[in-house]
Amino acid sequence: MELRVSQENLRALAARLLVVREEERTHLAREIHDVLAQDLTRLKIDLVWLQHRVTKLGKGSARGRLAARVAEMNQMAARVLHCVQRIATGLRPVVLDSLGLCAAVEWQARDFQDHSGVQCHASVPADELTVGHDAATAVFRILQECLTNVQRHAHATNVEVSLRQEAGQLLLRVEDNGRGIRVKQLRDPRSIGLVGMRERALLLGGKLEIRSHPGAGTVIEMRVPVEGRSGGAKGRRR
Ligand SMILES: Nc1ncnc2c1ncn2[C@@H]1O[C@H](COP(=O)(O)OP(=O)(O)OP(=O)(O)O)[C@@H](O)[C@H]1O
Ligand SMILES: [Mg+2]
Repeated sequence: MELRVSQENLRALAARLLVVREEERTHLAREIHDVLAQDLTRLKIDLVWLQHRVTKLGKGSARGRLAARVAEMNQMAARVLHCVQRIATGLRPVVLDSLGLCAAVEWQARDFQDHSGVQCHASVPADELTVGHDAATAVFRILQECLTNVQRHAHATNVEVSLRQEAGQLLLRVEDNGRGIRVKQLRDPRSIGLVGMRERALLLGGKLEIRSHPGAGTVIEMRVPVEGRSGGAKGRRR
């Protein structure tokens, strides 16, 4: 009995920590996006202006050096801006809050393919789903963990992602054609990534199933109950 209460307390604590972490990430992403990236963009615009002005100055080696220096500053500002935008997006992609879960899943699949070199195809409903904030966050974070695992461990060449809503359930399926997860690792409580995915699904009253055979790839399926309309599937080869 005591053990059960303690387990429930731990689960509630874990849930709270997940929420707090997500709130912090959202806050940080917003600050970086709205303040840092805006100011950097303004700086970059000023540097472009300066570059134009410098080229209009008379000829001479001093002008040449100045122009080269301003061009360098311009390139550096572009690099820093790019880096800052990647950090903000890594914390919490704007697309998840602005365009919704389907758009975010498509974006994540494309981004994964571009950066990992692993072919990744996402199939999502044609119409954006009406999923609550917590469910959308959980699905998105589970997808990210699946894709990170594929890149780090699977040695796969192809990943199929599908998001569907049917019979009051939201279903996320991620299938890779890699080397599969060993049974020992599947059951290991130190597999924090896998445990975290299961916990996220459980917290929403759903479940996560992992089917994997050595050498025969991995299928991860998450089902969580949701309310709202369902959309027909659409698929796009990336
Ligand atoms: N798609 C996959 N294909 C093959 N092996 C996998 C896959 N996903 C996970 N694994 C194996 O299962 C183990 C546990 O995964 P888990 O995500 O819990 O941990 P991790 O990725 O090693 O570390 P982290 O805590 O950073 O997520 C991995 O170390 C890896 O050996
Ligand atoms: Mg992992």
